[in-house]
Amino acid sequence: MNYLEEAKLKYENLKHKKDVLILSIESSCDETSIALVKNGREVLANIVSSQIDIHKLYGGVVPEIASRNHIKNISGVLKEALAVSGKTLQEIDAVAVTYGAGLMGALLVGVNFAKTLAYSLRVPLIAVSHVHGHIGANYISYAELEPPFMCLMVSGGHTAIIDVKDYCSFNLIGSTVDDSVGECFDKVARVLGLSYPGGPNIDRLAKQGQNTIKFNYKAPLKDSFNFSFSGLKTAVVNFVHNKEQKGETFSKEDLACSFQELVTDELCIKTMKACKELGQKKLVVAGGVGANSRLREKLQQYCDENGVKIFMPILKYCTDNAAMIGAIAYYYILADKGLADLTLTAKPTVGI
Ligand code: KG4
Ligand code: ZN
Repeated sequence: MNYLEEAKLKYENLKHKKDVLILSIESSCDETSIALVKNGREVLANIVSSQIDIHKLYGGVVPEIASRNHIKNISGVLKEALAVSGKTLQEIDAVAVTYGAGLMGALLVGVNFAKTLAYSLRVPLIAVSHVHGHIGANYISYAELEPPFMCLMVSGGHTAIIDVKDYCSFNLIGSTVDDSVGECFDKVARVLGLSYPGGPNIDRLAKQGQNTIKFNYKAPLKDSFNFSFSGLKTAVVNFVHNKEQKGETFSKEDLACSFQELVTDELCIKTMKACKELGQKKLVVAGGVGANSRLREKLQQYCDENGVKIFMPILKYCTDNAAMIGAIAYYYILADKGLADLTLTAKPTVGI
């Protein structure tokens, strides 16, 4: 039997196997991560090697540097993941990997590493969408969570409202027509001279400020579930440049707070409207911006007021990690999805 025939057979058998151990790999941006996840729910190890300190020097992720560091780190991350889990490679039932969306060179490191592992272990290779992985972060945060639910996806690459009908059935309700919310946080942080990644720094600064600054901005797309953040980003940048040109001072804390209030209002209002109009009583948050303390606080409040039960990933699973990829990969297998052969390649963009 050749590799592909063997992998297909094993993939079919996994649908009925009592315990399925997945080794998952994530390298779409600047985190090299490998996890071991049992039955989509139990994280045996989740090693994340972050390159933040390297990219901080350049004010953002430098794709070529990210790829090189993934190559440097990935074998060590695998060794550590196996050691922490107490498992051997021979016990792995399948290898899952993020194939997109993300930085092409960075993704390719994970994809090629995964192909090599799957082929040498003669186990199925599962190609996972990064966005679906972010939703999977909730299955390892809440044992009781099951679809259907509404999802607010807020990351550096995506901003969307998704109607999740089943584990692998995703219906896009609305998405950004320009920048993602994470990009907007990072841009505003940069103009304030805060280091990369900007989101957590805005979050921290905003706690010390007041919502007192009015930007020259009106929230667009009022009657749609789509988002637009480029106008707000420009309004904030113009505000700062204006002040600088006039030699006037302003409170960075107040600016961070006022900006964050506008963004979180926009996200909360549209998400709650989607829940109401589609009659959904469960909301799931996904993606790095889901770690924002004010967004979490406001969404909780909106949901309490509207009788919606909210699930937000525990903080370490909000930002990029391999455990979330291993979680959703399990449900890919059950839904007969994701089986890849050795021609698998990376994709910089992937639809919902
Ligand atoms: O999901 P993620 O780790 O990577 C992508 O898939 O893009 O999201 C990264 C984004 C960055 O823009 C980062 O600034 C933002 O998430 N982020 C935050 C916070 N923590 C991370 N934004 C606002 N507040 C935070 N606490
Ligand atoms: Zn991500």
